[in-house]
Formats: sequence, structure tokens, C-alpha cells
Amino acid sequence: MTTNLQAYRGSLLHFLADPAFSDESHPSHAWHEDGLLIVADGKVQAAGDYATLHATLPPNTVVHDYSGKLLMPGFIDTHVHYPQTDMIASPAEGLLPWLETYTFPTERQFEDTAHAANVAEFFLDELLRCGTTTAMVYCTVHPQSVDAFFTASEQRGLRMVAGKVMMDRNCPDFLRDTAESGARDTETLIQRWHKRGRALYAITPRFAPTSTERQLQLAGELAAAYPDTFIQTHVSENEAECAWVRELFPNSRSYIDVYDSYGMMRPRAMYGHCIWLNERDRQRMAETQSAAAICPTSNLFLGSGLFDFERADDAGVLLSLATDVGGGTSFSMLQTMNEAYKVARLKGSYLPALRMFYLATLGAARSMQLEGTIGNFAVGAEADFIVVDPQATPLLQRRTARGESLEELLFALALLGDDRAIAATYSAGRQVHVRETT
Ligand code: GUN
Ligand code: ZN
Repeated sequence: MTTNLQAYRGSLLHFLADPAFSDESHPSHAWHEDGLLIVADGKVQAAGDYATLHATLPPNTVVHDYSGKLLMPGFIDTHVHYPQTDMIASPAEGLLPWLETYTFPTERQFEDTAHAANVAEFFLDELLRCGTTTAMVYCTVHPQSVDAFFTASEQRGLRMVAGKVMMDRNCPDFLRDTAESGARDTETLIQRWHKRGRALYAITPRFAPTSTERQLQLAGELAAAYPDTFIQTHVSENEAECAWVRELFPNSRSYIDVYDSYGMMRPRAMYGHCIWLNERDRQRMAETQSAAAICPTSNLFLGSGLFDFERADDAGVLLSLATDVGGGTSFSMLQTMNEAYKVARLKGSYLPALRMFYLATLGAARSMQLEGTIGNFAVGAEADFIVVDPQATPLLQRRTARGESLEELLFALALLGDDRAIAATYSAGRQVHVRETT
């Protein structure tokens, strides 16, 4: 069989370790100012200095020239709701009224498969425009919303994680499953989609208030029966929500303990928000390798609270960044970094740009137990990568013209960049987006 070999020249950046916990003997990243990425059959064959690697290419190999731009792994968004695309930027006074007023009526429309397919296509195109190549995605309660999503992502050849929302109480009748039907539909979808091509399934109880104990129990049983599936849900996002959980589950030690008692804290479990946690909760997350999806644009928009990076790091919790669209206000992981930076400042912490790019790539892959598959340019990893343009806008061009440090370059991209900074997106070595220039 002939190999499909492609080479890309540009400034190469990818991560090897968390910059917050690395030192000179364990560097956090590899940076090749004049670099070359070699992709064979959709996987990384080599990543390094152009001067060294160019000589290894067979004669006549085409080298795509992205000199002056950055080549880095595609971003990973670890918590996002595709059905909420059309209701992004809908005003409400906090989480619970926002769910009632906008979210539930919007999600009702996904009963219609054609509508679900239309939104899934737009959503995926928007992710790719923003340089996001993998996401952990909530569908709606309707199984057909999952089929529509995975069908669209399969057509694009993307590595995506998604699941059917389970909710059997405290929601409108038109969005309600039952403990039994929710588990049955989830199992059917796992069998249909999990590990089919690049699709991965996430068992998705929406959040504790909308599931009965029976539903959580069945979700936990599925999580044990299918240990390599993902789990995703919300936890400790908003104070009114936390008070509601205390009323609904008076015997639980804490909100996250509700999930713990049903066996839902384990590797590949992704908890959205994690704002109002206590020390024991953080310890349990670290012990069980459950991961936190930090959603700063959503938390600021809904007034939910400020994520505590320092306490999470002290406990050793697996961290990643997420948009949480439609509670989140941007699909761009660069804009998500911008807000994460400010959240950290308000909590008295400091997030270097290198750390933010780590959290949006390798940090997320580690949180999902997918290191080696996505998240960096390790040999054999899937070639999901982006071309980032430091001159995308007049202001970025002006700001990044002063040849300063890598940290300053990344910081300017995080604070000033958005979809315009993504010149192209590749998935498994195939170009899936190229920015239109006017
Ligand atoms: N909690 C339960 N459902 C949701 C949702 O759709 N968005 C957010 N941000 N929080 C939730
Ligand atoms: Zn959410």
C-alpha cells in the first residue's frame, strides 16, 4: 500500500507536560521556530526542526509552506452543547431561569431529525472555523439528536465524544425520558456509536436535579458495564443549583458525592464547572481521575462564579478548558482562554499563556485519557492540527510584530484572537477548514 505523505512547514508548538508542573529536566513543550510536521496516512510521523527533518523526506514530497504561522494541535473543547447553538447569547438572570426560558424550548426542536442534522452541521463547521478538532458534546434527550450528530461528525472524519442527555424529572414533559428508557436508549447508542470510526460515547445525565436516584443508579451501572465510555455531567456550577441539590439529596455529603455514590467518578468522567467544590470533593476528583471542564465564558455570563485554579492544582485535579456554548458566549478556545485568564486573576491566581494552550490541547487529552491519540504531535498521534496566524487582524499584526518571547506571542493570541486567527484546520491530516480571506 502506498503511503499518503504530507509535510507542513511553520513554527511548531506542542506540549509534553503541564507547564505548571514542569522544569528544565522535564520541559513542558517543544517549540521549533522553523519546524516541519510530517503526516503519514493521517497520523504524525515526525515533528521537529525543518533543517533536520527536511532531508528525511522522499524526493518530490510536497511541503505546504506555512512559514510565519504557528502549527499546533487542534483545540479540544471538553464541554459544549450542540443543540444550544441557536440560543447562544440569550439573556437571563442566572442558570435556572435561563434553562427554563431558553434551553428547554430550544432543545425540544431536536425531536425533528432534520433540524438536528442542520444544527449539527453548522455546529461542527463552527468548531472547525475556531480550530477545535475534538469536543465533548451534549446532545438532547432525543436519541435521534445523537444519531444526527455522529452522522455529521463521521462525514467530516472527526474525533468527537457525545451522548444523549438523560433526564427523568424536574423538566418539561416534552424533554423527559424515564430511568429505564434513558438507560435502554443510552445502551443502544453506545453499541451503535462508541468506537465506530472516531466516535466515542459519553453517558450523559444532564445534572443531578433532573435525574431520579433510579436514573443515576442505571447510569452508574452503564458506566461500570462499559468502562471505556465517557461520562459527562454538570456539577457545582451555581449557588441556587447547589442549594437545590442539597434539598433533593439530603443524605449526600456534597453535590459531587451524589455522582460518587452511583459510581460515576472514574477515569473518563468529565465534570462541567466545578466552582462550588470543597476540599474533599477535589480530593475525590483527583483520586478517581475524574476531570474538570472549566467554562469561564459561561460562568461569567450566567454569573455562576469563579473557578479556583490554585485549589484545583493543590489537589491535583485533571483540568481542561471548555466553551459550554450556549451558556458560553464564544465557540473560540482563544476567547475562552482570554476569559479564563481574567477569572484566574480575580481569584488571585495567574495563568500563563503556555498553560492555557496546554489546557486546551494536551491537558484536555490527558483529562480524557486520550494522550497519544490526540492533543500533541507525539509520533503516531492522529494529525488533528491547526494553522494559527499571528497577523490575522491589524491589531494582532501590530501587537505581534515586536519579536518578543513565545509566552508573549501566545498571550497576545489568547487575549486578542478568535476564529479569525485560525488560518486552517486539519483533521486526521485532511484539511477541513480554510479561512476565507477578503
Ligand atoms: N446545568 C444543567 N443543564 C445545563 C446546561 O445546559 N448548561 C449549563 N451551563 N448548565 C447546566
Ligand atoms: Zn453545560
